[in-house]
Amino acid sequence: MENLLIKGDNINALNFLLKEKNLKGKIDLIYIDPPFATNGNFTITDGRATTISNSKTGKLAYSDKLVGTEFIEFLRERLILLKELLSDKGSIYLHIDYKIGHYVKVMMDEVFGVENFRNDITRIKCNPKNFKRIGYGNIKDMILFYTKSKNPIWNEPKEPYTREDIVRLFPKKDKNGRRYTTVPIHAPGETQNGNSSKPFKGILPPKGRHWRTDIETLEKWDKEGLIEWSSTGNPRKKIYVDERDGKRVQDIWEFKDLQYPTYPTEKNQGLLDLIIKTSSNEESIVLDAFCGSGTTLKSAHSFGRKWIGIDKSDLAIEATKNKLKGISENLFVEKPKYEYIEINEVNPITMVISNGRLSAKNQNIYE
Ligand SMILES: C[S@@+](CC[C@H](N)C(=O)[O-])C[C@H]1O[C@@H](n2cnc3c(N)ncnc32)[C@H](O)[C@@H]1O
Repeated sequence: MENLLIKGDNINALNFLLKEKNLKGKIDLIYIDPPFATNGNFTITDGRATTISNSKTGKLAYSDKLVGTEFIEFLRERLILLKELLSDKGSIYLHIDYKIGHYVKVMMDEVFGVENFRNDITRIKCNPKNFKRIGYGNIKDMILFYTKSKNPIWNEPKEPYTREDIVRLFPKKDKNGRRYTTVPIHAPGETQNGNSSKPFKGILPPKGRHWRTDIETLEKWDKEGLIEWSSTGNPRKKIYVDERDGKRVQDIWEFKDLQYPTYPTEKNQGLLDLIIKTSSNEESIVLDAFCGSGTTLKSAHSFGRKWIGIDKSDLAIEATKNKLKGISENLFVEKPKYEYIEINEVNPITMVISNGRLSAKNQNIYE
């Protein structure tokens, strides 16, 4: 499949992907960052995007005027189509704010199944501000993460230990100064006949527990100096910090937005890098149906994924093309090539197809 950039209302574009591109069940990862029902307009003045939603100057990038139940219904219609496009190992991440996000969560539970809800990720979006408003300062928004099934693509992400983590979690040092900690070599549960319930150096595992591995491996670890014996003769396994690839990523992420974005509400590239590395593989297709300036597409491309971006705003398409153009080539990353399609709102794709043509305006431009 060719990478695709589509200009048009995503309701038409998603139907096009399902019916014309036969992509039902083929998309492994969807990230969407729709308008947040702010009842505002987002503009760009002299190449600089406004970061507030009620701007009255500049060129209109997009308007965010649907609110309340109308907004929820607008999203629901699109999420139903997005679910059809998701593969069985697929994931969807939806970026939203704290004002409307909880209503969106309830609606997404209905569409994707509450059993497929994985996380409500808190994203720290900015530094504290001193607005004189009653209530606590708001520095976060939320990302709702669902999977299509029980077996999604999951490349466990790791983050590096901080200096404090290292001192706290690996308090001991060996004779060469290498930091380590120790963990028990037994685990809950007894095995009747297995090798892991036999004596190791004449010691049986404590009652109700078994050795974490077979006796041969324990002997080998001991020979290599990887077992630490306490003064009371209790064996524990040494775990060295320099052999660990970091700690588990938790559900509070700090990815602050750019101070001078090129597109209003443009998201942090690192945020998309993390999502794409974790929930897709190299052969995956990644879709963003509200792509704005193309942040998702850039990350997808940089990690060798196929991608599809949709937006109905001229300025968004322009910003996306520029962002893609800015990707530098290297040994592993080629300049992006993609098919550009416009789906005209007056002639929705379904109508044009019934006329025997692909779309009202279908420019196959390879950039
Ligand atoms: C919050 S911005 C996305 C910003 C993007 N994540 C980025 O990093 O640049 C939302 C985008 O959704 C687009 N949009 C809103 N309604 C749409 C619709 N019905 N079809 C296609 N795009 C739409 C807007 O034009 C806007 O660019």
